[in-house]
Amino acid sequence: MSNRTCLAVILAAGEGTRMKSSLPKVLHPIAGRAMLAHVMDAATAAGADSLAVVTGAGAELVRDAVANLSAPSASQPEIFVQMERLGTAHAVLAAREALRRGHDDVLVLFGDAPLLDVEAISAMRAALQEGAAIAVMGFRTDRPAGYGRLVERDGMLVAIREEKDCSPEELSISYCNGGAMAIAGRHALDFLENVGNSNAKGEYYLTDIVGIAASQGLPVKAVETLMETALGVNNRAELAAAEAIWQERRRREMMLSGVTLIAPETVFFSADTVIGADTIVEPNVWFGPGVTVEGGARIHAFCHIEDARIDSGATIGPFARLRGGCEVMEKAKIGSFCETKKTRIEQGAKVPHLSYIGDAVIGRGSNIGAGTVTCNYDGVSKHRTEIGAEAFIGTNSSLVAPVKVGSGAYVAAGSVVTEDAPDDSLTFGRARQVSYEGRGRSLRQKLLAAQKG
Ligand code: UD1
Ligand code: CA
Repeated sequence: MSNRTCLAVILAAGEGTRMKSSLPKVLHPIAGRAMLAHVMDAATAAGADSLAVVTGAGAELVRDAVANLSAPSASQPEIFVQMERLGTAHAVLAAREALRRGHDDVLVLFGDAPLLDVEAISAMRAALQEGAAIAVMGFRTDRPAGYGRLVERDGMLVAIREEKDCSPEELSISYCNGGAMAIAGRHALDFLENVGNSNAKGEYYLTDIVGIAASQGLPVKAVETLMETALGVNNRAELAAAEAIWQERRRREMMLSGVTLIAPETVFFSADTVIGADTIVEPNVWFGPGVTVEGGARIHAFCHIEDARIDSGATIGPFARLRGGCEVMEKAKIGSFCETKKTRIEQGAKVPHLSYIGDAVIGRGSNIGAGTVTCNYDGVSKHRTEIGAEAFIGTNSSLVAPVKVGSGAYVAAGSVVTEDAPDDSLTFGRARQVSYEGRGRSLRQKLLAAQKG
């Protein structure tokens, strides 16, 4: 298969008004990544070496987004515009120029069907390699309303009939068109240009190419998949349904790859979340974009983690928030009710309770006392706090950045540290305590007397 060239044409001209959104439909995210990008990723993973995205007129947002969406290794998609919305075959022909280049396989995928998987595309490509002129993704359901029906004869597909054009007998067919197709490149243009629009909707249906191929005696195959794989998103409720299925799939993959999820239904991943084997994730954890967790880490309950790298043996939470580029190195700890931003916590260092640590580096083996805050913002700019190895920051200290605390240094509890503290120093940044003997008692007597009088 690898030596066959493959063009994926992704239809992204959905009008999307039912999303009630200023964002084009295909840019709405599933697992933090645009639906269109999920489809591009699946196509690339199934071996597509060229991508063509067909947008509607005026979809500048889609055009601009596409360049940023493609994975770094993948080829940049070409954009084509379908000026008028005249049907799915018409939309594919907007990419005529790409089709003319003569790829072995042509995939037609829908940008609003983000659950399409690599296996389904690969199965369609395999059917082409075995001689099919077209392979169609099909699914079986007892609720086929709204879908095109797959009309078979002697194990071969002979037509796809859109619901509005079905005879009563065809309406009872439970085998449906999932939307995605693979077409032998040498036939693609010929098939598409022969599609007419004399049907109930007056549209140029992509699905008509099946009848065209069959009438030329060419073999057409259906490749069966699950209905959910074909799920198209038209509104926010379907978006949430697609998200739920995506999350369920990814949880299962994570668990089968060796990650323990104690309550999997409460853990949410982003499309790019990576977690190593033997990491344990407790209930109610959110992984935003850009998170990598090595094996053997523990994420306690109720954590919100974005843009972070967590090394093996590290522990996070419960109730921790990590964001903006954090690195938690081997056996380091971020404990309960802590927020860290753009911070590196080096090997074995601990921030066990109730701290905000931002724009900082905490050296190996250091301990940050409860309630410590890095004062990283002066109202205009952000500044860094650097703490060396094996340092001890006493409880409830404020580290006013830019500031450095050296290796082995002690900072007394309750300090406000505004100047650098050298290695191995002991720093007090607070008023000296004074206790006056007996003065507590005399104060109380004075207050009681005043109350009576
Ligand atoms: C389509 C299939 C149907 C299948 C169903 C699966 C056709 C004619 N019908 O129907 O057999 O069961 O998908 O979900 O293909 N689009 C354009 N330009 C157009 C028209 C559509 O880009 O002029 C895009 C849409 O944005 C969408 C995709 O093509 O991403 C499918 O179009 P849609 O109108 O949703 O087709 P369905 O009626 O769902
Ligand atoms: Ca649809």
